Amino acid sequence: MFRVSGDAPDSVFSGNASASQPTRRLRVVRPSSARSAPPVDMAEAEEFLRLFHAENRESGSLQQRLDRMRYEVDTIGTYRHSQQELTFGAQVAWRNSARCIGRLYWRSLKVRDLRDVHTASGVAAHCVQHLRMATNNGKIRPVISVFPPETPQRPAPRIWNEQLVRYAGYQRPDGTVLGDPRYVRFTEAVLSFGWQPPLRRTAFDALPLVVETVDEGPHMFALPPEVIEEVPVTHPELPWFAELGLRWHAVPVISHMRLNIGGVPYPAAPFNGWYMGTEIGARNFGDSDRYNLVPLVAERLGLDTSREDTLWRDRALVELNRAVLHSYQQAGVTITDHHTESKRFLTHLAKEEAAGRKCPVDWSWIVPPMSGSQTPVFHRYYDEDHQRPNFYIDEDATHRALNGGPPRFA
Ligand code: ARG
Repeated sequence: MFRVSGDAPDSVFSGNASASQPTRRLRVVRPSSARSAPPVDMAEAEEFLRLFHAENRESGSLQQRLDRMRYEVDTIGTYRHSQQELTFGAQVAWRNSARCIGRLYWRSLKVRDLRDVHTASGVAAHCVQHLRMATNNGKIRPVISVFPPETPQRPAPRIWNEQLVRYAGYQRPDGTVLGDPRYVRFTEAVLSFGWQPPLRRTAFDALPLVVETVDEGPHMFALPPEVIEEVPVTHPELPWFAELGLRWHAVPVISHMRLNIGGVPYPAAPFNGWYMGTEIGARNFGDSDRYNLVPLVAERLGLDTSREDTLWRDRALVELNRAVLHSYQQAGVTITDHHTESKRFLTHLAKEEAAGRKCPVDWSWIVPPMSGSQTPVFHRYYDEDHQRPNFYIDEDATHRALNGGPPRFA
């Protein structure tokens, strides 16, 4: 059986995930794209340490902490966060994420300090463990796993995947796609690296992880199927919905964003919350360049699709989203609807204001992708100033996540 050991994370990809689907550890024959970091910007480090001390009054002398940071940055171009700083920094990076509507719970983020895990297999094994902890039998826990920072001495590990669990997209000869069209190029890349998809391909085949370190280059790891909790989609009133054979994974774990705390970049820091239904029902299932299910659902509902003004798209979208919320609830997997979450977000804003803090908000992301004006977040203006620490996406990371490789190898 597949094992994960907390003590020896570098030696766990032995054995089989299951008899039919062995866990593979394949060397990807590509040079590493890793680079080491420029020296840390001391002003940014100081800004963070001041914030940490302002919000954690019991944490000792600020002056001593700043002196220590300056000495470390002067000598080696970086500095090491204490565990409390790392935890606070990751939580505040979430608090500052202008596109996230779920920030009310920022303090509950569980931070895993994995700064000493340097091998590709160690990173992959801890990603598997992350999935277990976050899934928690359906009672989803927000978790972040922080792998080593990028330093002037050493490039950090990188996870190529956009999320730990994503579904393959297989382009058919006629141009249509089986699975998630967003990952057609990533799927082609891992196939070329030797990934073996299931014998019978489906629209929901989990892609392997690709983890890259500077010493080893990129390596590929199949996730053990038992850590990928999934929800089959049914509808509260329409029995035929189950026949569509839809499913989705329980936990969204974003894995291609860089966490930056006080000037220190952590390129591998996968994090998760729980789903808001519209992310799946409106976007992953509804977008015409994703699973594009609205026309199919409309047809099964018997709607008149010959004219836009019957609003068949809107009606089908609602049923698709009801199905998603219903199915996650039935399966005992945490999920929230966009009305409830919008109200919670306003509670969060009020709390932040009461604490004397600015809360950055990107209206275009916070307003849900359906029924926007029916939610209170639609009807107001927000602070838009960027706040640090935060999570960032760079072009290379996006390129790796969608194409399965850094731009110069594409
Ligand atoms: N929208 C992304 C998806 O559908 C997930 C983004 C993060 N979402 C969250 N609820 N934490 O997979």
